[in-house]
Amino acid sequence: MSGDVVPELFSWSFASNPYPAYGQLRESSPVYWTRLPSGVEAWLVTRYADARAALADQRLSKNPVHHAEDAEGRGKTGIPGERSANVMTHLLNIDPPDHTRLRRLVSKAFTPKRVAAFEPRVQELTDRLLDGFADRGSADLIHEFAFPLPIYAICDLLGVPQEDQDDLRDWAGMMIRHGSGPRGGVARAVKRIRAYLAELIHRKRGALGDDLISGLIRASDHGEHLSEDEVVAMCFVLLFAGFETTINLVGNGALALLRNPEQRAVFQSALEAGDTELLDSAVEELIRFDGPVEIATWRYAREAVEIGGERIAPGDPVLVVLAAADRDPARFGEPDLLDLGRQDNQHLGYGHGIHYCLGAPLARLEGRVALGSLFTRLPDLRPAVEPEELRWRGGLIMRGVRTLPVEFTPR
Ligand code: HEM
Repeated sequence: MSGDVVPELFSWSFASNPYPAYGQLRESSPVYWTRLPSGVEAWLVTRYADARAALADQRLSKNPVHHAEDAEGRGKTGIPGERSANVMTHLLNIDPPDHTRLRRLVSKAFTPKRVAAFEPRVQELTDRLLDGFADRGSADLIHEFAFPLPIYAICDLLGVPQEDQDDLRDWAGMMIRHGSGPRGGVARAVKRIRAYLAELIHRKRGALGDDLISGLIRASDHGEHLSEDEVVAMCFVLLFAGFETTINLVGNGALALLRNPEQRAVFQSALEAGDTELLDSAVEELIRFDGPVEIATWRYAREAVEIGGERIAPGDPVLVVLAAADRDPARFGEPDLLDLGRQDNQHLGYGHGIHYCLGAPLARLEGRVALGSLFTRLPDLRPAVEPEELRWRGGLIMRGVRTLPVEFTPR
């Protein structure tokens, strides 16, 4: 496929609003072979129907050994530094039957029931973070709110002792700050996290509790327990698959509401009325409209595959552009409009198929509590900078702002 008609991708200006360029691709080159900023070449899939089919296609492997250019396999899940610390063997990098076994085991411990029971704790964490700045009249919503919430929440769920949670927050912060920058810092942070988790898991084996790590240790499949390395890799992926994503859900979600006053009023009325149905559909729509994951994690053709009329050769990487698929007019009416009450909203923001987001119930809970409490507590919240001053975090997979300065009447 020629690149003649294709807009400039992955530039600075593209990062602040990639949707028009993705729209052009969807129209003219819906399955498009391109060179990424890293120099690696890959197919971009931008139409909803193709994207959904590709996400469920077992001929597309998650294991980087299938990449023609990269027989050794690199960490490409969007989790920085994972390769350097031997935590690669996790759900996002493996295929059935290993994936089936590990996913079944973790699903026994990370149940919707466990997540639902966690709501009061998420509320408490959210209130504590809001207390930290509500009387000040201004704040950076990313650093003071969206960033600490998911890491404390998942640490609590996993059973990381309170006194260690700030260390994990700092190491995780190093990973995402340097995600596309100096490799040394990231590798060090990942190694520390890995060593910490291994030690914690070892300690827990001696005294199981009712936290998620203890649940993982207990979980067994026909009597077969997870190995120590598998538990470490699983905790690692739970920490990081849910970290930057949730930061972006709160950041992009708040920004979308601030930029769409009419829909923000709908959201605030639903909060006042306790309309949980609307609040739930609002969080889904915020994910569709400007979701945390711009591009799903890497896939590699195991054999020749046809997608949208293009022949994908064995070994070719395939990137499913969720942000493009979820604005496809062939699937969504007025896709560029934020409509919090949108019906039939089968977006792909959490993926689709066997790798569908394991943490979706937790993400939905955190999104609803965080955005709901924010706009209840600070009803006149407004941006403190012009839209063009916002800087978007680099990196291929995730989409979110680095900072989100806001102002409000102190409470
Ligand atoms: C998988 C999105 C939050 C854990 C995925 C995938 C997407 C996604 C798109 C599939 C990737 C692919 O197929 O390549 C999101 C979004 C979130 C979120 C938009 C919003 C906040 C979370 C949270 C957790 C989590 C809070 C856990 C604490 C996972 C795991 C997988 C996954 C473990 C891998 C599942 C598998 O491969 O079987 N997520 N995620 N996610 N997510 Fe999430």
